[in-house]
Amino acid sequence: MLFFVDTANLDHIREAAELGILDGVTTNPSLMAKEGITGEKEVLKHYRQICEIVGKDRDVSAEVISIDFKGMVAEGKILAELHENIVVKVPMTREGVKAIAHFTEEGIKTNCTLVFSAGQAILAAKAGASYVSPFIGRIDDTGWDGMKLIKDIFEIYGTAGFETAILAASIRNPLHIIQAAKAGADVVTCPLSAILGLFNHPLTDIGLEKFLADYNKANG
Ligand code: E4P
Repeated sequence: MLFFVDTANLDHIREAAELGILDGVTTNPSLMAKEGITGEKEVLKHYRQICEIVGKDRDVSAEVISIDFKGMVAEGKILAELHENIVVKVPMTREGVKAIAHFTEEGIKTNCTLVFSAGQAILAAKAGASYVSPFIGRIDDTGWDGMKLIKDIFEIYGTAGFETAILAASIRNPLHIIQAAKAGADVVTCPLSAILGLFNHPLTDIGLEKFLADYNKANG
């Protein structure tokens, strides 16, 4: 299972990369805006910086802003030419699916975002998306079961033989990561805080303290 960090914050990306377990990054227009990145030139510069931080062969999802096919294709082409790590992130709409099918023909990797149902996941896979992004947390927020969607997509893709990777998105906490792994997600994309949360266990802290105390006692 791959670990992506879901942020446009360069310090968080660096910190995740330094852990040695980072496989990629996802961003979205809200995350870019949160970092104050505005204007085409700045946005492209920021994506390039992210790609350089994560290094070779690590996918970085960069989302198109256009909502029409022509605009998505034009934007996606610029993004894809920016760096070999770039995966063009496209929303789950009719125009989006058309654009994904076009990018698939052109050999450009895509991430179909804003997926909230198994039917939408089937459409993304049919269009040849490299990744499908079901939004777990946002489904949970509505009182529905986000993880059930991951399980359904895993079952459908296995049965139908779709090769699109399941990228569990909108992850809010460490438990989401564990559940997504159990449900068959190929990738989890999460805030750095959720990844760091996986480290925590009081028995590890107590155990380490005892080991060091015993060592110090024995060695003066
Ligand atoms: C996915 O690629 C999105 O960027 C992200 O996971 C959305 O998460 P949110 O619901 O926490 O905004």
